[in-house]
Amino acid sequence: MAVSDRILVLDFGGQYNQLIARRVRDQHVYCEILPWTTPLCDIRAGGYRGIIFTGGPNSVYLQESPHYTAEILELGIPVLGICYGAQLMAWMLGGAIERAPGREYGRVEMTASPNSLLFSGLPETSVCWMSHTDYISRPPEGFAVSARTASCPCAAMEDAARGLYAVQFHPEVTHSEFGMQILHNFLFLICGVKGDWVMDSFIDETVARLREEIGAQGVVLGLSGGVDSSVAAALLSRAVGKQLTCVFVDQGLMRKDEGDIVEHTFTRLFDMNFVRINCQEKFLSHMKGVADPEEKRRIIGTEFYKVFWDEIRARYSGGFFAQGTIYPDRIESGKGDAATIKTHHNQVKMPEDIRFSGVIEPLKDLFKDEVRRVGEKLGLPRELVWRQPFPGPGLGVRVIGEVTAERVKILQEADWVLRDEMKKSGYESQLAQFFAVLPGVKTVGVMGDARTYDELIAIRAVTTDDFMTADWAKIPYDLLGRISSRIINEVDHVNRVVYDITSKPPGTVEWE
Ligand code: XMP
Repeated sequence: MAVSDRILVLDFGGQYNQLIARRVRDQHVYCEILPWTTPLCDIRAGGYRGIIFTGGPNSVYLQESPHYTAEILELGIPVLGICYGAQLMAWMLGGAIERAPGREYGRVEMTASPNSLLFSGLPETSVCWMSHTDYISRPPEGFAVSARTASCPCAAMEDAARGLYAVQFHPEVTHSEFGMQILHNFLFLICGVKGDWVMDSFIDETVARLREEIGAQGVVLGLSGGVDSSVAAALLSRAVGKQLTCVFVDQGLMRKDEGDIVEHTFTRLFDMNFVRINCQEKFLSHMKGVADPEEKRRIIGTEFYKVFWDEIRARYSGGFFAQGTIYPDRIESGKGDAATIKTHHNQVKMPEDIRFSGVIEPLKDLFKDEVRRVGEKLGLPRELVWRQPFPGPGLGVRVIGEVTAERVKILQEADWVLRDEMKKSGYESQLAQFFAVLPGVKTVGVMGDARTYDELIAIRAVTTDDFMTADWAKIPYDLLGRISSRIINEVDHVNRVVYDITSKPPGTVEWE
């Protein structure tokens, strides 16, 4: 990517490494994260204007902890060490690190030197956020202590002449009162960046690069209707128009009308070839009599790729294969559940008999919020750009037990009413995710004067930042009441509505 200024976040295993990168990008400075195992020659070749060492869970004085050659501090590139990164910088240059009797954790008052460029514009005392046990007991030669707290004699140190700065606290978390100002000072006053990385320039540069790379060849993209593949499709459409073919496999397990919205968007608003494969019947026939959630997931996943790759095999060869991979998919790969979920969607394993001349991942350097900004600028409808997370197996995991066309339809109708009420009330903006579930439980009710024995609908709505943990949303009773009576009145075969008040953990967001 042709960006003038780039910053490197060298990752030593800290839990906030992505947050640091996002904070840098928020200031319109392009930044990438590389692991601490990256060779120095690559870093030298990267043309970075500044380097940030992240925090990490280790103790620098242990041999097995991640270290780096001290030559990195001699490249003439300013370096900011954060937490573990700060201790590492001290350790690399001969300072002393010790283990404190107790951990310093949480919001702490710090006194910072007004003469430090890093703390320019800050009051003498401010709140910073600490999370450490080890501390720098003696800074290396040439370094001055530039901030302290009651229990941390060296909350920050610097050798301004060499462009080396270190902070024991975490400027990237919002609890650090002037954290953004400190990062801004490092980037603009110390590294001298311009801050000209904006989404418009990303789009223009990426479109130009894609045109050059693709030339006159074709590109095929698997479109799921999710945010990432939709934005990738819009970007590729702008770059190469009809040379792009999007293949949309509709298993009939999306929410009501969503398949049509995807088709409408990409056939009317964007220039491309759009292929929709409707295969609900085929999918349902494979799931006949299957109630086990894992088995359902397996069948839906296997069938999806079978249909997709059969289509590719039959109609496309050579040219490029495009994917909606985004930055977190790459840096998280191999770590835990979230990565597996993403891999399922975005980084597809191609069968060996299918060959393309190359793989294109136009969003591979962007975070989700940046992908959304690009989507908005490219003119994608709001409902696609701001779409909530949606499981790969779709409503297949929200229809509990056996999935049939009738049951999918009941759920789609109930879910539609829920979405309509959330939208009308404006409450949707307060929720991270909400949906209806068909638990497959029948209950007795009374309608008019007659006894009913019909389906139950459960409403799930959560607030969360990261989906690793989530709270059930405290939806106002009157809104819940309207949702309940509308679902019962408008959706055939439903006579009862319940609200799921389980947080995660112990529950998961989805029911299956
Ligand atoms: P759970 O149910 O694990 O869900 O608490 C956490 C988040 O992940 C979404 N989810 C999926 N996303 N493929 C996906 O792309 C899947 O198979 C899948 N399963 C769950 C879920 O909707 C929630 O946002």
